[in-house]
Amino acid sequence: MSASSLAELRDRIDRTTYADEQETLARLLPETGLEASDGERIARSAADLVRRIRETAGPGLMEAFLAEYGLSTDEGVALMCLAEGLPRIPDAGTIDALIEDKIAPSDWSRRLGHSSSSLVNASTWALMLTGKVLEDREPGISGILHGAIRRLGEPVIRTAVTRAIKEVGRQFVLGETIQSALRRAATAEAKGYVHSYDMLGEAALTEADANRYHLAYSQAISAISEACTSDDIHRNPGISVKLSALHPRFEATQCARVIAELPPRVRSLALLAKSAGMGFNIDAEEAGRLSLSLDVIATVLADDALAGWDGFGVAVQAYGPRAGPVIDWLYGFAERFDRRITVRLVKGAYWDTEIKRAQEKGMAGFPVFTRKAATDVSYLANARKLLGMTDRLYPQFATHNAHTVAAVLDIAGGRGGNGDGGGGAFEFQRLHGMGDRLHDIVLEENATRCRIYAPVGRHRDLLAYLVRRLLENGASSSFVHRIVDESVAPEAVTGNPLAEAERHPGASRNPALRTGAELFGPDRRNARGWDLADAPQVAAFRRAREDFAAHRFGAAPLIATDAPDGEALPVTNPANPGDHVGTVRQASAAQIAAALSSARP
Ligand code: FAD
Ligand code: 2OP
Repeated sequence: MSASSLAELRDRIDRTTYADEQETLARLLPETGLEASDGERIARSAADLVRRIRETAGPGLMEAFLAEYGLSTDEGVALMCLAEGLPRIPDAGTIDALIEDKIAPSDWSRRLGHSSSSLVNASTWALMLTGKVLEDREPGISGILHGAIRRLGEPVIRTAVTRAIKEVGRQFVLGETIQSALRRAATAEAKGYVHSYDMLGEAALTEADANRYHLAYSQAISAISEACTSDDIHRNPGISVKLSALHPRFEATQCARVIAELPPRVRSLALLAKSAGMGFNIDAEEAGRLSLSLDVIATVLADDALAGWDGFGVAVQAYGPRAGPVIDWLYGFAERFDRRITVRLVKGAYWDTEIKRAQEKGMAGFPVFTRKAATDVSYLANARKLLGMTDRLYPQFATHNAHTVAAVLDIAGGRGGNGDGGGGAFEFQRLHGMGDRLHDIVLEENATRCRIYAPVGRHRDLLAYLVRRLLENGASSSFVHRIVDESVAPEAVTGNPLAEAERHPGASRNPALRTGAELFGPDRRNARGWDLADAPQVAAFRRAREDFAAHRFGAAPLIATDAPDGEALPVTNPANPGDHVGTVRQASAAQIAAALSSARP
């Protein structure tokens, strides 16, 4: 691949950030290579998987909890606020105030006894009593109980609620330290799983934070290297890294600084991973960080020191129209630099954030699809693309959705599993604490490989990750939320996203999601905004400013008097002291006096 073709592929990524959903979907549907009859076959095998998951395992605590308090209930939202807020509050008084604010208004007693999980019912009891205690005193037994709790006081309530929230968080973490996580990994490893450890590093705000995460990653790589005993790198455990953990200003507007400072940090970790014979994956984060991430990745991966190593990995999010162009560019890059890259295909964990940010910025569109079926179709089209590029890319299909798993198996047509002499063409991936039973079944029956993404760290570092998991598990559209509700038939749990997308081939953006000029409805037009992480918008912005680049502005008072203006003072651009914007003349004392006297009746 020539340098110019690669540059063209790279450019296409930046031009596609806000691509039209309807047009993109129309392109993606045929790229899945699946006809209606294939869709029906896949839907049947997905429903069968659901039936078997339900037969063999009850929902875990977290699933039962979130089934009871999904995000469409007031209580679910209250819990989400507590989970997000509690770990960040340093003082008891504010914790009590937050608990009172979030728990008291909810009707917990309505949920008492609903769940089949006794732990969830116990939590409901605790939350209900807390709610009542905070609300009022009641007569009878419950009055006495409430009185007791009232006497025990707020510390007990505080401890109970904090424990309940921590318990939810614990479901998603393999260990507090890398050593304990490596020990706990043995149970899943005995079943045939491998792991990719995540040190819960993200969004460093200071250089000290970035250094701390860098150290945590390097220590983890050293510890994990002991477990890297296979010659096949994909059989060894690996590590997942978020670039935002390694630099406090990992944002598009700071690109020059980031490109100078971040690649050496990533390179040092990648070299450690290379020498340990393990995989090193760059997680995908917010849409506004993608282009910069790819620049950092290109700088690091082009380094000769990384030649001959198959462990460098990149996560790609199917919920954005850029997924296909990113995969094409990765393939082109691997060809040009003679590399093999692992590509983890995910749907994307920041959907709510992307919607909200585009609305805040006044964008006319979203960098993610607005219909779930569009994301599912994109996933399958890009799964097929990846499976056609295995000479350079090692696909990793990360999902907890039985339909997506069934479809990938169908597209792979026996590769990567039983029919492939023990696999090797690709692997599945799941998050620790999610999708266990689904992947147990697939692993046992298909002999496909599966890796578990395993977060490591203390509760206080879990916050952002936990909120993403709660959103994922609590959203009514998500597979993990739907499978828990036994009243929903297996066929309805999995649905048939291909058929759904076919039914609305011309369907534009989801009308429930307004943005841009229409954000506030027909009666109030919203102001236009700019996305300074979007290269085409930045280029347009620069072009619009060019006419004024050499222009010198002059500001002076407009007063009907002959009195002379004050002295002309230079004005410079506060962001660039070398940029002389023009001059401003203040009103002189004589002008002010003249203005005041002519203002008098
Ligand atoms: P499903 O229920 O089928 O899909 C849920 C997903 O659909 C949502 O997360 C969202 O992406 C999408 N969606 C929901 N509603 C809509 C809508 N209205 N319109 C359009 N799309 C919608 N995520 C990252 O962002 N970066 C990573 O690096 C990353 N690494 C991961 C690693 C592993 C091993 C795993 C398993 C997941 C990882 N994830 C990552 C998280 C992943 O994005 C979510 O777990 C995934 O989106 C859930 O998809 P699913 O197929 O399991 O579930
Ligand atoms: C996240 O941190 C798993 O990378 C994904 O949400």
